[in-house]
Amino acid sequence: MTTKIILSGACGRMGRQVAALAEEGAIVAGVDVNPRQDFPFPVYPSFSLVREEADVIVDFSRPEALPPLLAYAREHRTAVVLAATGYTDQDVAAIAAAAKEIPIFRSANLSIGVYVLKAIAAQAARLLPDFDIEIVEKHHNQKIDAPSGTALMLYDAIRRQDSVPVFGRNGRTQKRENTEIGLHAIRGGTVAGVHEVGFYGPGESLMITHSAQDRSLFARGALRSAAFIARQAPGEYSMDDLAKSLLA
Ligand SMILES: NC(=O)c1ccc[n+]([C@@H]2O[C@H](COP(=O)([O-])OP(=O)(O)OC[C@H]3O[C@@H](n4cnc5c(N)ncnc54)[C@H](O)[C@@H]3O)[C@@H](O)[C@H]2O)c1
Repeated sequence: MTTKIILSGACGRMGRQVAALAEEGAIVAGVDVNPRQDFPFPVYPSFSLVREEADVIVDFSRPEALPPLLAYAREHRTAVVLAATGYTDQDVAAIAAAAKEIPIFRSANLSIGVYVLKAIAAQAARLLPDFDIEIVEKHHNQKIDAPSGTALMLYDAIRRQDSVPVFGRNGRTQKRENTEIGLHAIRGGTVAGVHEVGFYGPGESLMITHSAQDRSLFARGALRSAAFIARQAPGEYSMDDLAKSLLA
């Protein structure tokens, strides 16, 4: 059965990718603060105007969209895929509270390849405790947040108890400690997304890199996540849960 979707951030770069790749008729409505009507479904400037019934909201907008989105989802018992990045601690707490009533899938990176990068990098960090770790990410010149949500997710996956994140080294006048994990952001052109976790040891280094060639992989990931989350009980879900279901 087709999963019916409300697409939040429909008119953005990612929203348009999702609209282009979704099964015909799957997207029943869009929401965007700057609505354009060049889709085969209506696009509303706010959730309060949506009249169509859906199973899932897929969000590729901004963290500011979260309060009305969660209010709508709770009221209508709609599952949610949160693909936007840059959430604050307060946002994360609001998501956890809403997940007591509705199923919410959240991932800063919906690529299955990045999921595998995270798993391999976490294992490499355990196997190479004396190596220095530096995360470098590259994105197009329109990206607003830095470092990327994916870089922060990779940091969380590889960090040890005493790890300290170091965002760039500008102005630092002391040598690097092994407990540091560097995070560095490069912005330019149309790069869809590159994430490299580098392990630097005595006389050798190991780079694990994922490159997104275009944005379609994130849109495919969002549609796969939407089909998955529509079938779940209330709670918070991540790529770990999706990967488990794909392997089962
Ligand atoms: N999870 C992933 O795999 C993944 C992949 C790519 C991008 N992203 C994230 O998705 C988000 C969107 O990326 P993009 O490149 O499409 O950005 P974009 O700027 O092209 O599109 C964002 C859209 O959201 C709309 N918008 C802004 N505020 C809104 C609000 N309060 N309510 C409703 N709509 C609102 C804008 O008008 C715009 O059309 C970013 O946070 C980006 O980091 C996540």
